[in-house]
Amino acid sequence: MPVGRTHRLRHLRVFRGTPEDGGELVEYSVPVQEGMVVLDALHWIQANRAPDLAVRWNCKAAKCGSCSAEVNGRPTLTCKTRLSDLPEDIPVQVEPMRTFPLVRDLVTDVSWNYEVNRRITPFTPPEDAPEEAWRWQQEDIERVQEFRKCIECFLCQDICHVLRNHETRNPFMGPRFLVRAAGLELHPMDRADRTPYLRDGGGIGYCNITKCCTEVCPEHIKITDNAIIPLKERVADTYYDPVQVAWRKLFGRRSEGGSGQPIPGQPSADGS
Ligand code: SF4
Ligand code: SF4
Ligand code: FES
Repeated sequence: MPVGRTHRLRHLRVFRGTPEDGGELVEYSVPVQEGMVVLDALHWIQANRAPDLAVRWNCKAAKCGSCSAEVNGRPTLTCKTRLSDLPEDIPVQVEPMRTFPLVRDLVTDVSWNYEVNRRITPFTPPEDAPEEAWRWQQEDIERVQEFRKCIECFLCQDICHVLRNHETRNPFMGPRFLVRAAGLELHPMDRADRTPYLRDGGGIGYCNITKCCTEVCPEHIKITDNAIIPLKERVADTYYDPVQVAWRKLFGRRSEGGSGQPIPGQPSADGS
């Protein structure tokens, strides 16, 4: 893009470096046009000033979750953040997500998230459910559909203070994976019991419902209200409700399946 009279200059301070050299913020002046997003400015820098600038992106449509970074200290998708929405009197500061190990410049290693994902018991429907059991209420569909909107940008993981500040030496799965667990636990046909993992390996107790994760989610998933709080209630019921505790001792799991509803055509949990 040529620097013409119609283009104003915006100043960006972009993190450059590796874990070895410690990195620094480097200033760039970028000619901007109406509608430009932060990722456009980074691409201009790559094309015109720093071809070796490491930036991860794919769709430029807020759907792949690759371009996550911290803009003026706030975790955000750079392809969704308009320059015109940022204060003009200070440089736009772009840094990598702080929660994950730095690879280089704006790229971090998010592979830990995939390890956590593998620890969650996958969707476990009954093997012999009759066909009519797979027809369910629209409200049940909508409830789990919200969690399926996740694009795995890991912005919620980045802002969560438990992960960001490493406030615990024990593992905490983080909001993204509480969203995934909720999508499975609240699924009407799921029969796995993930409460032992949520309580122990997943460390759900570390979440103190600050709602920061909900505020940064680009898909507007109500992470705390719709995923974390129901899961916390489920864990509390399983381990602290005397009836559930007794049931668990007798049958080795909580008293009902994921939805709490018996499967049509199958005996309910109490055998009726
Ligand atoms: S609500 Fe829980 S998971 Fe979300 S940011 Fe706060 S502590 Fe982390
Ligand atoms: S829950 Fe939202 S913020 Fe978290 S990874 Fe998914 S889309 Fe990103
Ligand atoms: S480039 Fe795909 S979400 Fe930003």
